[in-house]
Amino acid sequence: MMAKNIFAIKANRILTILCAVSFMALGLLACAPKATPTGSIEGKAIMMGACGECHRIFLPREYSKAEWRPILERMIPLTSLTPEEKIRLQDYILKNSR
Ligand code: HEC
Repeated sequence: MMAKNIFAIKANRILTILCAVSFMALGLLACAPKATPTGSIEGKAIMMGACGECHRIFLPREYSKAEWRPILERMIPLTSLTPEEKIRLQDYILKNSR
């Protein structure tokens, strides 16, 4: 009886997490078509605002995609961007890389 209850609670938690994750994925999908036309402009604006605090703005085309990945892994956590802005910024940089 007890074990069953615990399982039910755990299953409930997992369901809640699954729901949250799929909700987020849906949200991203829903935003994707809208983000395409303005995405690069927004990405650029995000970069100008967040990446010039400590050094000059490095342009996306200064590095290849493969070079950007490890740099972004170090640099993006230094910014105080929202998770959505981070994704947009990363998309913008990788799309416009060398
Ligand atoms: C809190 C300060 C800070 C912020 C914010 C920051 N950077 Fe940096 N960045 C540094 C420092 C310090 C270095 C040099 C040392 C190093 O590489 O860790 C650097 C180096 C770089 C380099 C040189 C390449 C390399 O391998 O060192 C690039 C490109 C770069 N940053 C891009 C970015 C981008 C894009 C953003 C915005 C997402 C950003 N940085 C935000 C501090 C920052």
